[in-house]
Amino acid sequence: MTTVLVLNGPNLGRLGSREPDVYGSGTLDDLRARLEAEASAGLSIDLRQTDDEAILIGWLHDAVDASSPVILNPAAFTHYSYALRDAAALVTKAGLILVEVHLSNPHAREEFRHNSVISGVATGVIAGFGFDSYSLALDLVTRRLG
Ligand code: DQA
Repeated sequence: MTTVLVLNGPNLGRLGSREPDVYGSGTLDDLRARLEAEASAGLSIDLRQTDDEAILIGWLHDAVDASSPVILNPAAFTHYSYALRDAAALVTKAGLILVEVHLSNPHAREEFRHNSVISGVATGVIAGFGFDSYSLALDLVTRRLG
């Protein structure tokens, strides 16, 4: 059994009520249920959220130690956290897939969202498709593992 870590950064615990016009009306529990239903045999979903940068970094270290593929929505950390970037690089340098995902399309929004300090060390990026961004990332993880 391979565990896919689905890691979510700050303010994503508020999904459902946070700017539904931008992020949709589904909650993180809805997302977890959806990904669990979509996961193919042999894959389990471990979806987590934190507002704390240090905790998120620790979870990326855990991914390295457990050889877990990662789907990461770094939320606002995307745009400025070099510490998170370095932790994400540990994952991909270990040969593990790390898909950066975003619900919205940051490039169609405010200028400060146009830059991601994570993308340069991610395996790839999927943005702008709501919960489908995560589903597509899970599909990619499945293909790469298969
Ligand atoms: C986000 C986009 C970020 O710019 C923002 O800070 C978020 C969510 C997204 O999923 O669209 O919190 O990562």
